[in-house]
Amino acid sequence: MIILGVDIGGSGIKGALVDTETGKLVTERIRIVTPKPATPEAVAATLKELVSKFDYSGPIGCGFPATVHHGVAYTAANIDSSWINTPIEKLFTSTLNRPCFVLNDADAAGIAEMRVGAGVGNNGVVMMITIGTGLGSAIFVNGKLFPNTELGHLILNDNIAEHYCSDSARQNQDLGWGKWGKRFNKYLLRLKFLFNPDLFILGGGASKNFEKFQEKINVETPVVTAKTLNEAGIIGAAMYAEQMIEHNS
Ligand code: BGC
Repeated sequence: MIILGVDIGGSGIKGALVDTETGKLVTERIRIVTPKPATPEAVAATLKELVSKFDYSGPIGCGFPATVHHGVAYTAANIDSSWINTPIEKLFTSTLNRPCFVLNDADAAGIAEMRVGAGVGNNGVVMMITIGTGLGSAIFVNGKLFPNTELGHLILNDNIAEHYCSDSARQNQDLGWGKWGKRFNKYLLRLKFLFNPDLFILGGGASKNFEKFQEKINVETPVVTAKTLNEAGIIGAAMYAEQMIEHNS
């Protein structure tokens, strides 16, 4: 199926038409700057603008940086607090006048990696960690998603993990890759201790620089980077919409 996948982030809202079989983008990726403040109304209006740039009238899959439980956003760590308790699926569906399926952004990225990326064929426990403004997590057991895990919010060194070792922490605290890599390694060691995954897949901005911090990583679990790179969130959101359409029909 060809479905419009959208990835809503703190700095940009990105979308492209995706072939959900192959996981390839079939149009160029379009990005619009996230409005400030990123209130539900402002983001919905920007989403509408983004969607209007595509010659497409079908359903939409959308990744969002919060817990999204049965279509409602329940957290707002790196977005406007007015999102908490917002019925996001209803809001987007009515704004865009078509079915809109919304899930957590890291869960979306994980779905893409399990279907067409580094997690293909892995039947154990796979943990995807997205390293960006926040730290996102997605856990798969035998290929099946355990949704809405918020492992970027574990406490590490008396700090919320994403304040300690997200990519924005690296930038804001002016950490070199080595120093940041040591911090991120501690985070992976903690996840390994708690969950014993078979594989870690790293995505998001910092994962593109894996070679700069790889030597600091000594967790026993294999660690690889996402194959769908920057596009994971968009691809996974489109795949999720397809799953929901099939599930509802
Ligand atoms: C949010 C998660 C999100 C992650 C990555 C965290 O701050 O709590 O829901 O997946 O950032 O955007």
